[in-house]
Amino acid sequence: KVKKDKMTILVLGLNNSGKSTIVNHFKKSSEQVAIMVPTVGFLVEQFYTNNVSINAIDMSGATRYRNLWEHQFKNCQGIMYVIDSSDRMRFVVVKDELELVLQHPDVSNRTVPILFYGNKSDLEDSLSNVKIAAALGLEKIKEKPWHICSSNAISGEGLDEGVQWLVQQIR
Ligand code: GTP
Repeated sequence: KVKKDKMTILVLGLNNSGKSTIVNHFKKSSEQVAIMVPTVGFLVEQFYTNNVSINAIDMSGATRYRNLWEHQFKNCQGIMYVIDSSDRMRFVVVKDELELVLQHPDVSNRTVPILFYGNKSDLEDSLSNVKIAAALGLEKIKEKPWHICSSNAISGEGLDEGVQWLVQQIR
């Protein structure tokens, strides 16, 4: 494989799952934002990690903006799919949205690695990776490399392990 030093990843997930907080963690401390406001549309952020420069397209997870996700599918080499592991009420919605992503021709016809963050693992009622994978039917994803990692985007726990995996898949 060709070694790439630049890659574009799409950051997807429902609103409030922690996408912007995750991207913020990877940016240099000088560029970090202390207060997160809901993303409108999408934001393109850049950061450097594991010897690659990453263009992260942070898509809003709000219902009215989710139709914007598909326009970015063909531009990305990897996907970060962020899940609020404590938001059990919306697991069905997460599953439906994930299926739409996986079925889209710009995703299904390509080998795009998908990293799942089971985020907010610090919250008491958060589900384990095994339970999240079962609830979302991740074992049915056969044609793409995928990986699930627990994360706490506020402390940063688990974030590096995840992005390391993603970078390795793309390299
Ligand atoms: P949209 O931009 O609306 O799509 O949301 P988002 O997915 O970018 O979520 P955002 O990063 O704005 O985080 C939503 C809220 O969850 C914020 O109040 C964060 O501080 C909080 N949050 C994010 N990650 C964690 C986490 O790992 N644990 C806890 N306890 N809270 C978190």
